[in-house]
Amino acid sequence: MENDRRLIEAAFPIKQTSIDSVHEKNVRHGHISTLHIWPARRPLAAARSALIATLLPDPGTESERRKLVKKIGGEVKTETTKSGKVKESTEGGVLHWKREDNPEMDEFRERIREAFDGQAPKVLDPFAGGGAIPLEAMRLGCDTTAIDLNPVAWFILKCTLEYPQKLAGKERTLPDFALEDADFVDQYLKKQGLTPAKRRDTLRGLGLTEGDALSTQQVMFSDMNQIPDADLSWHVRAWGKWVLDEARKDLAEFYPTYAHFETAEKPAERKSDELKRVPTHNDGTLDMEPLNGEYGDDYLDDDTNPRWVAKPTVAYLWARKVSCKSCRATLPLLKTQWLCRDGDKRIRLTIEPKEDGSGVTFGIERDVPKGIGQDLTSGTMSRSGATCPCCGTTMTMADLRAEGKAGDLEQMMTSVVIDGPNGKEYRLPTDEERASTDRAEAELENLFDEIPFGVPTEPMPGENALGMRIPKYGFKEWKDLFTSRQLVALGTFVKHTRRVREAMKSFDYGPAWREGISAYLASSVDRFADYNSNLCNWDNNSEYITHTFQRFALPIKWDFSSVNPLSGSTGAYDGALDWISRYVSHALQATNGEVTVQQQSATSQLPSDLDAIVTDPPYYDAIPYSDSMDFFHVWLRRSLHGLSEEFDNVFSEPLSPKWDHGKEDGELIDDASRFNGDQERSKQAYEDGMAEAFERCYEALNDDGRLCIVFANKSPDAWETLVSAVIRAGFVVDASWPIETEMINRTRAQSSAALSSSIWIVCRKRSETARPGWDNQVLQEMRETLPDRLRQFWDAGIRGPDFVWSATGPAMEAYSKHPVVKKADEPGETMEVSEFLDHVRREVVDFAVGRVLSRNGHADDDAESLDKVTAYYLLHRSDYGLAEAPAGACILYSISCGLSDDALDDQYDLVDISGSTAQLKAWDERSRPQEDSLDPTAPLIDQVHRLMYLWKQGDKASVDAFIEERGLSDHDLFQKVLQAIIELSENAERSLLESISNHFGGQVPTRQQSAEQSELFD
Ligand SMILES: C[S@@+](CC[C@H](N)C(=O)[O-])C[C@H]1O[C@@H](n2cnc3c(N)ncnc32)[C@H](O)[C@@H]1O
Repeated sequence: MENDRRLIEAAFPIKQTSIDSVHEKNVRHGHISTLHIWPARRPLAAARSALIATLLPDPGTESERRKLVKKIGGEVKTETTKSGKVKESTEGGVLHWKREDNPEMDEFRERIREAFDGQAPKVLDPFAGGGAIPLEAMRLGCDTTAIDLNPVAWFILKCTLEYPQKLAGKERTLPDFALEDADFVDQYLKKQGLTPAKRRDTLRGLGLTEGDALSTQQVMFSDMNQIPDADLSWHVRAWGKWVLDEARKDLAEFYPTYAHFETAEKPAERKSDELKRVPTHNDGTLDMEPLNGEYGDDYLDDDTNPRWVAKPTVAYLWARKVSCKSCRATLPLLKTQWLCRDGDKRIRLTIEPKEDGSGVTFGIERDVPKGIGQDLTSGTMSRSGATCPCCGTTMTMADLRAEGKAGDLEQMMTSVVIDGPNGKEYRLPTDEERASTDRAEAELENLFDEIPFGVPTEPMPGENALGMRIPKYGFKEWKDLFTSRQLVALGTFVKHTRRVREAMKSFDYGPAWREGISAYLASSVDRFADYNSNLCNWDNNSEYITHTFQRFALPIKWDFSSVNPLSGSTGAYDGALDWISRYVSHALQATNGEVTVQQQSATSQLPSDLDAIVTDPPYYDAIPYSDSMDFFHVWLRRSLHGLSEEFDNVFSEPLSPKWDHGKEDGELIDDASRFNGDQERSKQAYEDGMAEAFERCYEALNDDGRLCIVFANKSPDAWETLVSAVIRAGFVVDASWPIETEMINRTRAQSSAALSSSIWIVCRKRSETARPGWDNQVLQEMRETLPDRLRQFWDAGIRGPDFVWSATGPAMEAYSKHPVVKKADEPGETMEVSEFLDHVRREVVDFAVGRVLSRNGHADDDAESLDKVTAYYLLHRSDYGLAEAPAGACILYSISCGLSDDALDDQYDLVDISGSTAQLKAWDERSRPQEDSLDPTAPLIDQVHRLMYLWKQGDKASVDAFIEERGLSDHDLFQKVLQAIIELSENAERSLLESISNHFGGQVPTRQQSAEQSELFD
């Protein structure tokens, strides 16, 4: 492709990409996120949009651009819901989930190929992680390479990209054990489009269900040989079923099922509380014959007749426990006593101190009355620690940590969730269930003797590692995150997953099939592990088990739940298998280009002759990828060992690579615990590593290639440092687009540095003959060219943080097209990125603020001298008023004003940022303006609020003195800010400001003027 502009350097469907990206967070079936946990996966919509716009040329005219942008993103539709909320959605385009198969995608694939002289462009993601970007590159027909240093990520990339790519369009006969299973065949026939009646008849015809065989006219397939061949996703299902069937034989005794004697009528009427253990057949399935054998069919057919009803266990609920430091009673650590609080279904665990004071007795209270005291439902844990139900002593968190480290933090089973005919029921554990831990403990050694590397005793991250809380409670090895029975369950699934390789030999699968199927089954073990650790909770509102990685950190859970892997409930093995097979099915449709997956550092040599690098690198201390994902590394290493030489090489180490001090290379995250607590060194190592990676990208790209990088850090310093590294590596930054991408809960912690909006910056290679620039000329060029772009974006209807960020990228071109920018007046000095960006921000933010300050909708020159805090205030207030606003967007504003959100919250006391929302504080909620000693150089917004405070107090003398001291009567900019805030305010605040304005003799705008004004920022 000629080195002409790309679409992304001129226009981009920002709004549509954001809407469809955010929508994707609700998507489940078939989505890449369901294949395997990986932190911070980018939405496919964002990746697809960025790739198309980077690979396609800019059509050159505004109207053609608009057409192309619409073809990619569709049109934005707004609708007001009954509750008055405005909902935005897209219509058309190819970004929304399920529109990836729209016919326009074929057109995009063709146009992309055309743009690269009929060849598939070569695209690389060197920080590919969970694979969203390379998946979309493959879908668009590119010759794609995905690189990640982490072995778990490498494994996920193979499952995401490589196996579907190798096996797309290939089908083969299902193994006979699957074809002999009525349920499996029924599901498969359903997928082939057979109606329920046809399926029923066919199953009978095949002899898979009882009843007389039917004539061939009535059945679709009268012979197993006629059942159509199946694709990879169905072979994964078949072998997963094989694993489950094998595991059931071993595990049934560890997950006993009990029956109650009751009627089959709904709701079932309990005849007694007696429980009977249900015996099992050799294959681990339930055998009701010994329990109900005495009843004939006639009796059992009448639902009003009582009989034994099996109620398989869904989950066991546990509490951690310690000995009370005062009375030595066994103290259960429970955050809640609610077992279920779902509408009228209100069930709680009761806790009664034992008479002998040795501990507590649990009970189950059904039909808990509404309005029950919190003391009866809130458990023993509070923020300060745990309170002993026997003596009332509080064990502090420090006490609990000490108990943990001394090995005295144990666990006790509190209750059992079972599946009844009318929904979930709760009961106390039987003695046999309580003793399960000992039985599992006894089994562990034998079981893990058969598994490479044995029980996972690999060390967990240390207590100072980024984001890790649980090591503070004495959890030292990865096995500590599982109860003995959970380990037995996982070990059993690993054992049978490994056996599949041998069992497949008799079915003549080729190597790609064998490796692919084994890998997806290993992924199923991981998915199951995510639901089978002692960090899973019971969700008492919706009655399901939650998973380990709700956040990418490992916080301790005091009360946890343990799933029954054989149960078919949320978290059980068959669910894991289903999610994974659905993804495989989706991925098989996305295989339009070649794919290579490599495990290496992005700082090492990358493949050459690339047309585009599109990537989403790690950001400082946002996410502890390798430390948290070692949770899976230890299981994958066991499940996959021996599968191939490549697997054994990649998983040769017990844990994933962290930082190699000798090579000065490794995972690029800012984690001081890897540098003996030296924060400076850790930050420097991260920044140097990123700079090196950008240099490798420069070398790997063709001269007309493009580098497109996602930036998702909320600190202006971080953004400046990374952008300077990109520029130093030889790139010209020429576009930037903000995209709202994330579910807010993707972050490690909501207060961490990750953003819910990210900025995608676009760079091209600087010519090797580029010469140093001079600051005055660079600034002049930026000021000359920028207004056109500002007007272009403004006229295109881009507003708010989107506007500010869309304009920042192009403004950087003037600076970054020089390898270095010297200062004309200071020989030997250079202008750094941060200084240049300050000038850019002034231009861009001032343009936007000017729209707020002026009454006629044109830029106001005074905006240039406005301080950044007041600039932020005006932008925020004009967009969101005093209502809750999305934190991501506000953080984008703050960065573009050169402020951090922490400074706005803590230092300036201007905004409340909590979780996903940010809210401006009302003038009377702020403490700064109440200070008598308000600094004369304080931001103008503080001065306005100080005056309001003095006025409200009725202290006219102080008001006049304040005005006089600071010369506010003649301060034009102050007057404009005051007027702007009047226009943005209502009711009492507005009256107060109007009184102040009148006191100045100021002109208060009419309501109509205000209405006109408020349209400006629509
Ligand atoms: C933000 S994540 C990428 C997420 C990805 N875009 C997705 O959609 O799933 C950053 C990735 O960089 C990887 N990484 C960290 N240091 C690396 C290095 N030196 N070389 C290659 N990859 C590295 C991490 O393992 C992580 O997967």
